[in-house]
Amino acid sequence: PVLIGAAIVGGYLLGSIPFGVIATRLGGAGDVRSIGSGSIGATNVLRTGRKDLAAITLLGDGGKGAVAVLIAWLATKDGPKEAQAVLVALAAASAFLGHLFPVWLKFKGGKGVATFFGTLLAAAWPVGMAAGATWLAVAFLFRISSLAGLTAVALAPVFAFVFHRGLPIIYLTLFMAVLVFFRHADNIRRLLKGEEPRIGGGKKDAA
Ligand code: G3P
Repeated sequence: PVLIGAAIVGGYLLGSIPFGVIATRLGGAGDVRSIGSGSIGATNVLRTGRKDLAAITLLGDGGKGAVAVLIAWLATKDGPKEAQAVLVALAAASAFLGHLFPVWLKFKGGKGVATFFGTLLAAAWPVGMAAGATWLAVAFLFRISSLAGLTAVALAPVFAFVFHRGLPIIYLTLFMAVLVFFRHADNIRRLLKGEEPRIGGGKKDAA
């Protein structure tokens, strides 16, 4: 019970660190929430024109998910494997929720794609790699970040089923996929209208 509480609270607190907001403020690029889509993620940080800050945001938002998973994994490494898998999934889901609903930003957080990748690469790397390859392929073909993210998260439960036998990972990918889709409601509307901006697009493209 102590470990479960620690995984949930610790995961949430780690996940709630808004790297996009911190990086743009400290990097002198203003507040990322007032530009582009208003999102705090790496895709929107890139719209400030600062690739370095976007990279920091991507690594930070992904890294915090991976760290939450690794701590949970280490804390349970001497126990039964089933319990470890459940605790890892709990820590991952908590970090993901922390990113989406951070208490520090009045619960208005990010869309979850980077943190989804971070937790998944740490918790079940073949699933994370397959989802990452999906993101890259779609981004390469269409140059639209949201479309790449949505495709990757939608396929993740399938990859989890194919590569990983553990139910906790399958539930985790399903849970995160549903929330990522909800968080992308505006993006999905723009995609359907053909108005979603492209990665590296000029001023005209900045939504
Ligand atoms: O990872 C976030 C991406 O899918 C969408 O971001 O800023 O274009 O709404 P944005």
